[in-house]
Amino acid sequence: MSDGSIDLKAEARARAFSIPLEEINVADDQLYRTDTHWPYFERLRKEAPVHLYDHPEHGRFWSISRYHDIVAVDSNWQDFSSTGSIVLEDPQDDFHTPMFIAMDPPKHDAQRKTVSPALSPSNLANMEPLIRERAGNILDGLPIGETFNWVDKVSIELTTMTLATLFDFPFEERRKLTRWSDVITAPEGAPGFGTEDERRAELFECVGYFMNLWNERVNAEPKGDLISMMAHAEATRNMDQMEFLGNLILLIVGGNDTTRNTISGSIVALNQFPEQYRKLTQNPELLPSMVSETIRWQTPLAHMARVAGEDFEFKGKRIHEGERVVMWYVSGNRDDEVIVDPYNYIIDRERPRQHLSFGFGIHRCVGNRLAELQLTIIWEEIMKRFPEIRLLEEPKRSYSIFIKGYEEMNVLIPERV
Ligand code: HEM
Repeated sequence: MSDGSIDLKAEARARAFSIPLEEINVADDQLYRTDTHWPYFERLRKEAPVHLYDHPEHGRFWSISRYHDIVAVDSNWQDFSSTGSIVLEDPQDDFHTPMFIAMDPPKHDAQRKTVSPALSPSNLANMEPLIRERAGNILDGLPIGETFNWVDKVSIELTTMTLATLFDFPFEERRKLTRWSDVITAPEGAPGFGTEDERRAELFECVGYFMNLWNERVNAEPKGDLISMMAHAEATRNMDQMEFLGNLILLIVGGNDTTRNTISGSIVALNQFPEQYRKLTQNPELLPSMVSETIRWQTPLAHMARVAGEDFEFKGKRIHEGERVVMWYVSGNRDDEVIVDPYNYIIDRERPRQHLSFGFGIHRCVGNRLAELQLTIIWEEIMKRFPEIRLLEEPKRSYSIFIKGYEEMNVLIPERV
């Protein structure tokens, strides 16, 4: 793949290590689109692990880039609050959508508890045959010897089907979920997403659609889908429209984009490290560890943010009340003080589950087992069918400092097993 990306990477490295520290801005979407954020974080981890930057749009924020420091912040909800927003951007005052990921205890705990049974090991065991059947059907429908976009045909399709099942959402209309997920995460001005008013109108359409499902289920016997669970639980049954929308956004994006991008990331990783693919086909028992390694290597959510509850001394820096503190998981997962040879994708690492991609502490991803299950199943089914999935060119990466993923990825499957 000689597309100039090597020059771009060399340039980024030279720049990252020559500009004054205070000018380093890791919240620049362009760095993620071009995959050139790595040297900036490398420098921060070495020279300024707790780093203050005054961003023209997002204001002042602290970047935490080392593994153990991220664990310390993520585990300390008393000093680092999630209330309001858990991303770098400020919530919009006139469009506030509370959701439990952006709450502190006790309300967070009660709402999380409401939905967690849907993602419990016993419920996942029930879902497994269905996910497997769908994965098999998706793979059987792929063209052989022809270029196609893996993101759309496989990653989006499988994760959207799973999400539809979790919500017990009308299956034929499931691509509405994909669209709403994209509307939520698209950066302002992105082509295909209209003005801010149009975007909001689509989100109101989303909440209206779900309101109908809620109304059906609130008057029926409780069932195991997420909407019925929320409609019947003490902690969620009195949510207003905006809080309902907030929690829908959380579940749609949480359940969709992250897993979608990891499935796509596994194709990129195994093409960049073909010896690891050989290792996997010769030792299929490495699959669970390959799945965890892919989740680390991809880090589908680049960061989560908190707000300091009071003035606070952290690693020799004075963080003031109200200041935003950003935990860069994408950087912690490349910290060589904790992870050996972190830039390499190694499917038989000694401790593959040691990574930050699911966060830490009370907000640690409640869907982590479902994500792992979908990845495991898709690869078990791929290995039964295809000896190779060839990535034909650099994938088109997402233009986002939050969602670390792929919009498009052209691949070719030369033959079936
Ligand atoms: C590879 C896939 C996934 C990744 C990398 C991921 C990552 C994360 C991260 C980083 C957090 C916040 C952790 C923190 O603040 O400490 C989180 C929370 C959450 N995730 Fe996931 N996630 C994934 C899949 C899923 C799936 C499949 C669901 C299912 C619906 C899901 C639902 C949620 C929810 C509801 C929360 C909020 C938990 C809370 O605030 O207590 N995620 N996830």
